[in-house]
Amino acid sequence: MSLRLPDTGTQTEPDGRRPTPSAQRNAGPILAVLQEHAPKSGQMLEIAAGSGLHSATFAAALPGLDWQPSDVDPANFASIAAYSALCPVQIRPPALLDAAQPGWAALWPGRDAILLVNLLHLISAPAAQVVLTEIARALAPGGTAFLYGPFLRYGQPTSEGDAAFDSSLRAQDPAIGYKDLDWVLDALRGAGLTVRSLNLPANNLMILARRA
Ligand SMILES: C[S@@+](CC[C@H](N)C(=O)[O-])C[C@H]1O[C@@H](n2cnc3c(N)ncnc32)[C@H](O)[C@@H]1O
Repeated sequence: MSLRLPDTGTQTEPDGRRPTPSAQRNAGPILAVLQEHAPKSGQMLEIAAGSGLHSATFAAALPGLDWQPSDVDPANFASIAAYSALCPVQIRPPALLDAAQPGWAALWPGRDAILLVNLLHLISAPAAQVVLTEIARALAPGGTAFLYGPFLRYGQPTSEGDAAFDSSLRAQDPAIGYKDLDWVLDALRGAGLTVRSLNLPANNLMILARRA
């Protein structure tokens, strides 16, 4: 199902890039975390890359990483490729990956880093469980997953804006909506990862999940 999200309806540039104001706003804080905590080299798998603005921004700033953007929707590939074309660092062509499909990690093993931005609140809890389990399987020993987004804390949204967005998602599909931070951390721990979370602007969190 196609969701109504804050960035929906933004006009595509003539070269195929889709401007994504939300990605532009959170790119700085996310990049700061990646620069401090991501490996300096190795295989980076970005799940749910969307427009590709993040892929190009982060790959340029972290040139040692071999950047692989992916998404479930091939309609995003033209925009991802257009952003990649402007990046001074080589980015792999976008790959088709449904992260909620059990078993995908077997096709993407040995990832030194995995990035997931703003997906978990858009899918059901069972689908999110699959995403988290497969991320854990896809990580190389010593690899780290970076999961950014809005989360409930002790079952509650942390601002009026978050409550309104969560309600608008649940109105569109009762199965989706914000996930509770502790639920996500427990799922990652259950999959064998060591976890911590960092507070980022606008009540968002970055969860760092590391495979020993
Ligand atoms: C809100 S956008 C976020 C895009 C990008 N990460 C960003 O922050 O700009 C959500 C993205 O998740 C993708 N998506 C939805 N379900 C997915 C799934 N099961 N597996 C992989 N990607 C998925 C959508 O196609 C869309 O590109």
